[in-house]
Amino acid sequence: MKDDPTSLIEAASAARRFAHAPYSGFMVGCAVLDENGDVHCGCNVENAAYPEGICAEANAIGTMVANGGKRIVAIAAVGGKDTVEPCTPCGGCRQRILEFADVDTRVYVIAGDGAVRAHSIDELLPASFRL
Ligand code: THU
Repeated sequence: MKDDPTSLIEAASAARRFAHAPYSGFMVGCAVLDENGDVHCGCNVENAAYPEGICAEANAIGTMVANGGKRIVAIAAVGGKDTVEPCTPCGGCRQRILEFADVDTRVYVIAGDGAVRAHSIDELLPASFRL
């Protein structure tokens, strides 16, 4: 599953169906593969108080942590209004991924041409803040 993102993307797509996105209409699902081989899913959950909305990646990563996962081996997100559209993690979610990522963590992104591309977190968040 690490090098073939098909089933991770399927898991993200399944979670996307439950997204609560009545304000943006942009539904996102995310699936995280942890170091134990477990997959944790999340979707975006918006709120009438807009800043209280939570990204799909944040929910998936939180679920991973709550279930004992420590490292992100691979992560995939699928988003869009009616169809799947290019969806790359927002800046805040890149920082959230970084917290649990290793040099070989794969971040699967749906590109503008519809292709699935694998990125490292260093590609997506260069010169990142770390403690
Ligand atoms: N969204 C995510 O869930 N993940 C991202 O990385 C980008 C944006 C959500 C937030 C909001 O509910 C909707 O997509 C539109 O921004």
